[in-house]
This record gives sequence, C-alpha cells and structure tokens, in this order.
Amino acid sequence: MSVSFGAIKALSNVTLSINDDSDICGIIGPNGAGKSTLLSVIAGEVSPSGGTVELFGDSNKKKLNPETVNRKGISRTFQIPRPFFGLTVERNIVTCGLGVNNLNDSQEKAKRLLKILELDKHAHSTAGQLNLAGRKRLELAKALMTEPKVLLLDELFEGLNEQEVDSLVNIVKNEIASSSIKVVLVEHVISALRKLANKVYVLNQGELIAEGETEEVLSDEVVIEAYLGKQKV
Ligand SMILES: Nc1ncnc2c1ncn2[C@@H]1O[C@H](COP(=O)(O)OP(=O)(O)OP(=O)(O)O)[C@@H](O)[C@H]1O
Ligand SMILES: [Mg+2]
Repeated sequence: MSVSFGAIKALSNVTLSINDDSDICGIIGPNGAGKSTLLSVIAGEVSPSGGTVELFGDSNKKKLNPETVNRKGISRTFQIPRPFFGLTVERNIVTCGLGVNNLNDSQEKAKRLLKILELDKHAHSTAGQLNLAGRKRLELAKALMTEPKVLLLDELFEGLNEQEVDSLVNIVKNEIASSSIKVVLVEHVISALRKLANKVYVLNQGELIAEGETEEVLSDEVVIEAYLGKQKV
C-alpha cells in the first residue's frame, strides 16, 4: 500500500502479511517512518492512495466507519490514549463492548479486564484521573472489549517504566495465548518488542527496509544504521 498526505509520502509500496505463523508481528522505525499511518490504513481510518488491504477475504481501498471496522474484527489502541475522559474507567470499558455484546455481558467482561489489567481499584475514578500507565492499560482494555481478531497496538509501552513494561508485556502475552488474536505491534520499546514479537518489519521514511525474524532484524546493519544506532538495544 501507499499513502500520501499532500506532498508527504507517508508510505511507499509497503507490502506485509500478518497471516503467517507469528501471532505478534512488530513494526519498528524512526519517528515519522509511517508506522501509525500503516495501522490507520489497516484499521480503515485512512484510505490508501495505492494498493489494498485484504482482511478475511475482503479487499478494502476506502475509508471505513468505526462500526464496520469493529465488526470486521479489527481493533486498535492509539499512541496518545483516547479515553472518554469524563466517564469512569469501568464505563469506558463497558461502553466499548456494547457493539458486540449486550450490557450484562459487557459488564461481566469489563469486570474481568479491570482485574487482569489491575484497573479495578480505579474502576470508579474518571479516565482523566488515571496516570499514563493507567491510560495505556485502559486503552488495551477498551480494544479487547470489541473481541478483535486483529489487534493493532500503537506504542502501548511508550513512557512506562521498566516494571510497568514487564507487567504489561505479561498481560499481553497471556491474553494473546488464550485467544487466536493476531497482533500488530508498533513499538519503540525494544525490550517489549523482543519479548512479544517473533517477526518484525522495519519502516524508514515510508519504505519497508527490512523484515524477518526479530533477532535477525535487530542485528541487521541496515536497520542499525537507519534506526537502532540511535538507541540502546
Ligand atoms: N493526517 C496527516 N496529515 C498530514 N501528514 C501526516 C498525517 N499523518 C501523518 N502524517 C505525516 O506522515 C508521516 C508519517 O507519520 P506517522 O505518524 O505514520 O509516523 P510514525 O512512524 O508513527 O512516527 P512516530 O514514531 O513519531 O509515531 C510523517 O511525516 C507525518 O508528519
Ligand atoms: Mg506513530
């Protein structure tokens, strides 16, 4: 797929498949590489200017509304969390389940997620009262409520301390292991990527510059030059 915003080419002829053996595939690359745009295209929020997204036998070339996207089994988190700020944490989560479940089932499911994500002590606080780690967890809980087949995570671990990263990595691992969700993980936190993704794609200035098994890609000289050289791995 390709995506242009006016004169900016955010993605140029990028081809990738999440329909392989890996349950979690990673997307890495420097700032502005096109990672979030890629998720937005898969989620139907941005229409590709060239190419298509094929999901479960359907070919998408156009922008889709959020209900259609959820019914297709796609769910995403946002790099900057987007809770319903004025609603309680519990209501944020319950609300996101109402497109696929009735109120009772959504409440039951929300209770389970509140516990798993250790948000239960904040259930009756407003989302606006949560700190960053809490907002990231809420973002994940909301996305899981729509019972996705494909879950798109945009920098879920950014800004968390080491302990918060480790604990959230384990939660993601357990949730994915107990379901058949395919995850696309856009991530700058390489320690989390290493623990979760068995396949990685690397974007640089809108182009796919490497793909393959995680450790191989992370030791690739082109990738180190374009991206990893700037940070500790
Ligand atoms: N809605 C938009 N309108 C105009 N330009 C955009 C839009 N969204 C993204 N861009 C541009 O497209 C390019 C890719 O942006 P994108 O947000 O996908 O990068 P990214 O890899 O997610 O970066 P980061 O690591 O900083 O989150 C950037 O040059 C960005 O400024
Ligand atoms: Mg981004």
